[in-house]
Amino acid sequence: MEWRGQSARAVEWTASLVEELLGLSPVECPGLFGDLASRRRFVVIDNNVMQHYGTGILELLARYGIEHNEPLLIPGGEAAKTRATADRIIDAMDEFGVARHGEDIVGWGGGVLHDVLGFAAGEYRRGVAYRMFGTTLVCAIDAMFALKVAINHGWKNRVGLYHPAVAARCDLSWLATLADDDIREGFAEIIKWAVAGDADLFKLVERDGARVAEERFQGRDTTTRAIVASTIGGMMSELSGNAFELESARRSYLGHSWSPGWEPELRHGQAVALDILLTTMIGWRRGLLDMNQRQRIVRAISGVGLALWHSVLEERGLMVQALADTTLHRGQRQRIPVPSAIGNVAFLDDITERDVELGLEDLHRVALP
Ligand SMILES: NC(=O)c1ccc[n+]([C@@H]2O[C@H](COP(=O)([O-])OP(=O)(O)OC[C@H]3O[C@@H](n4cnc5c(N)ncnc54)[C@H](O)[C@@H]3O)[C@@H](O)[C@H]2O)c1
Repeated sequence: MEWRGQSARAVEWTASLVEELLGLSPVECPGLFGDLASRRRFVVIDNNVMQHYGTGILELLARYGIEHNEPLLIPGGEAAKTRATADRIIDAMDEFGVARHGEDIVGWGGGVLHDVLGFAAGEYRRGVAYRMFGTTLVCAIDAMFALKVAINHGWKNRVGLYHPAVAARCDLSWLATLADDDIREGFAEIIKWAVAGDADLFKLVERDGARVAEERFQGRDTTTRAIVASTIGGMMSELSGNAFELESARRSYLGHSWSPGWEPELRHGQAVALDILLTTMIGWRRGLLDMNQRQRIVRAISGVGLALWHSVLEERGLMVQALADTTLHRGQRQRIPVPSAIGNVAFLDDITERDVELGLEDLHRVALP
């Protein structure tokens, strides 16, 4: 005898840009912390965010009458994306007491906080809801509304879940206090989406990317807003159509084929940028891109201050291992997105070690002429 069960689990999540978020009140935005039938909320904040915005965050929580724990502070940076940090969060949730429903956890921080908090929330009581306030560029245009959450375990993001924040919000004014490096990191993901899926966005980045980076997204001009909004909109629509990645041919995998193997030696965005460059060279060799398109991608990446070369690219063993791991991850198919125009990719399954070698030679000539 056999009994069959089936359930289609709907997932809904939102991403928003909000001006003057720390000044909001329950009259203007009653749902900011979810249903206030219970006002208990467990709060986790990135150390640096606490330093810069702690007072405003605590005032906001008070304005909403939130009964919260002494905010749990966790460090940013890849080294914090571990099982130990997730366990610290889970232990602190237990100490405070978090109900299974109706007391959405609240997080303030960058992509690292998002990934580790989302992971802990997904495990806790087999899944409690959380709300994310994204404070870095990477988080605003990618991580905060991603379905995926993870910790590093030997390999980048090796252990994880699909557990998106029910609502993700960012106030771009928070980016003013980011380090230059963190702006560059985020720009790598913007360029990823522009190259893979949005030629108009790419033109904006080509024209104004350097200025917008320099201004840390604090310009009130339409271009700054359009760069962020187009990236979020494009990524959200890509995610909505393939939420659980049952289809492994994803445009947003551009830049994510070799890069996991280069982290944490390289930061995420820089690794993504180099991966885009390698596939650009491969695409050019395969005749998918012409020299002008190749040059435009290189210029857009270097224009926002990302490096065109790093010594990790010389570790051939690592290159082979990284590609093998990605192939395993994608169900024994490479499915490597390679730029085939500005704003489009082709998915290749037949990239050889020789292709990689030639691609690296081409890139080396461009980067260190
Ligand atoms: N889940 C996903 O799909 C997804 C998507 C993209 C990236 N990510 C992950 O995101 C991580 C990188 O995120 P990140 O670049 O935001 O790193 P991060 O969270 O470590 O933040 C970078 C630094 O900025 C500090 N910081 C945060 N907000 C600040 C602010 N407003 N002002 C000043 N300092 C601030 C942090 O303390 C940290 O030192 C990687 O682990 C990557 O894998 C996940």
